[in-house]
Amino acid sequence: MKNLITASDKEWISEALSRIADKMTVVAQRNQGKIPYTTDESGRFDDHSGKKDICWWTNGFWGGELWQLYKLTGKDIFKQEAIATEDKMDAAFMDYNGMDHDAGFRWLPTSVVRYKMEKNPESKNRALLAAANLAGRFNLNGNFIRAWNDWGDDRDTTGWAIIDCMMNLPLLYWASEELGDTRFKAIAVAHADTAMKCFIREDGSVRHIVGFDPATGQYLRDYAGQGYKEGSSWTRGQSWALYGFALSYKYTGDEKYLKTAMKVADYVISELDSKYPDYLVPVDYRQPADVRLEDSTAAAITASGLIEIVECLDKELSHKYLDAAIRLLRALNDNRCDYSLDKDNILEKCTAAYHDAKHEFAIIYGDYYYIEALMKLDGSALTVF
Ligand code: GLY
Repeated sequence: MKNLITASDKEWISEALSRIADKMTVVAQRNQGKIPYTTDESGRFDDHSGKKDICWWTNGFWGGELWQLYKLTGKDIFKQEAIATEDKMDAAFMDYNGMDHDAGFRWLPTSVVRYKMEKNPESKNRALLAAANLAGRFNLNGNFIRAWNDWGDDRDTTGWAIIDCMMNLPLLYWASEELGDTRFKAIAVAHADTAMKCFIREDGSVRHIVGFDPATGQYLRDYAGQGYKEGSSWTRGQSWALYGFALSYKYTGDEKYLKTAMKVADYVISELDSKYPDYLVPVDYRQPADVRLEDSTAAAITASGLIEIVECLDKELSHKYLDAAIRLLRALNDNRCDYSLDKDNILEKCTAAYHDAKHEFAIIYGDYYYIEALMKLDGSALTVF
């Protein structure tokens, strides 16, 4: 990867990583014991490590960020805090309802990463428990992994699958490889095939939620989910899709997944070029033209996913995706990063969902994917997904 990057890009990337390393050393010291999701009004991390929030789907990203920073700097504080995060997450295994399809987001950046480095049995055990739980969510009627558990309201989510789940499949690919047992991979492939057929539109845009009849597997309808409306194009959903299908290609070698990842990426790049030439990413590519709500997490995840595609292609085919990834990261670096020591977050203007009351705040996975993407370009990233 490094030899595809120009000298001037290498320079700002290395400068950004050094600012991140300096800042996050201070941030990790002053937030010991926490598992953050966002920041408070003073810019300090909140804490999701308590009983009430320990099952929150983003709880693996702080651990993953710490492992990436440990790789970047070799500083013990990062490793110590990453391990503390992983230990605390054990409580989630005792809450059946808190175990949802985001097992990959939670245990790939924590237990699987650590197990790959240290071969310790506790991390392996946790990662296999998480993989078995994820596999148990597979519905043979319709060949999909059920996304969420019921929310205690009148919505029946039994037949719901979401595009985000493509990013959880590497936990199943890993378990198959680790155990020499094809069952997990077979489930991942069956889900990926369903997602390819039912989520990807002709133009390369992607649905967020698809509802199936859980008893027959019949496709019932799609939902706007975290996007603007039905038929729209939630930017983070597009990023999960292009990244996730590239990963299914990486783990299976099946070209159809790479073609799907490229189809979504081509759509995203054409939306950015035509509507958002500053490469500051909106919450939905089809939000009204006069709404300028942003989601920096989508920018960071798209960039990291595009780099994954670059790694699957020959140089001539890859430059379009690499250029777009660098433009996205450069736009974040120049306009949406807080490298100061006062605030705990790096990325600004992250948005969880279009119709939420709150928009444009700090979100931990934005920082995780921003760092991951820069480190991929720098050739120093740990493989997490
Ligand atoms: N996976 C949920 C989200 O992207 O917000």
